[in-house]
Amino acid sequence: MAVLGIDIGGTGMKGGLVDIESGELISERFRLPTPKKRDPEAMADRFKEIVDHFGYEGPIGVGFPTIIKNGICGSQGNLHKKWKGLNVSDVFAEKTGQDVVVVNDADAAAYATMEYGVGKGEMGLVLMITIGTGIGSGAFYNGALIPNFELGQIPYKKHKKIEEWTSASAKEREKLSLEEWAVRFNKFLKITNLLIAPDLIILGGGLSKEWDHYAHLIDSPVRIKPAALRNNAGIVGAAAAAFRLL
Ligand code: BGC
Repeated sequence: MAVLGIDIGGTGMKGGLVDIESGELISERFRLPTPKKRDPEAMADRFKEIVDHFGYEGPIGVGFPTIIKNGICGSQGNLHKKWKGLNVSDVFAEKTGQDVVVVNDADAAAYATMEYGVGKGEMGLVLMITIGTGIGSGAFYNGALIPNFELGQIPYKKHKKIEEWTSASAKEREKLSLEEWAVRFNKFLKITNLLIAPDLIILGGGLSKEWDHYAHLIDSPVRIKPAALRNNAGIVGAAAAAFRLL
């Protein structure tokens, strides 16, 4: 069965049709930039453009870059403040006329890697970190999701949240080399290890694709694996969540 998964980030909105049995993307990935204002109206319009691109009718799974509880946005994240408190599922469902299931984007990515990817069969505390506009984190303990882990929100030095210092967008904004950024990311992983002592860390999001080029700069007591699904984990996990939760 093919389900449309849409991974919404602060920079891009990406969709793809996912075969729920195998977890494979069975269409081209279609990406549009997130509207500059990042507000509900403009993002809902863009969302519909993605659905229309696929000519898709059926349940849609969405990974959304904020705390999500029962479809409701619980934090502003890197989006417009109007999102907070809104029922995100309803916003997209009303716009498209389809059933929509929304989960946190990093939880979706974690779900994909646990179900189909390098996390399959891994027990203990498995932590997925997504490195994009923000830093997302999705945690599984003995195969069950602990939703809405928000490790990117840890205050650090003069930053209100550490993701302002160590995300892919921080790298871009401050024009850091991959090496300079990796030193920061290594620090973030050290803090993470001290706080929650995971058994395995899986990396996803844009900068996970570069893993082979900075792995030597990361000094972690815990195993680290890049997600084989790399940047598509969010799309796959969102579709799988829709299939599971509807
Ligand atoms: C948000 C998280 C989200 C992450 C990645 C952070 O700013 O607080 O909920 O998972 O960005 O998009």
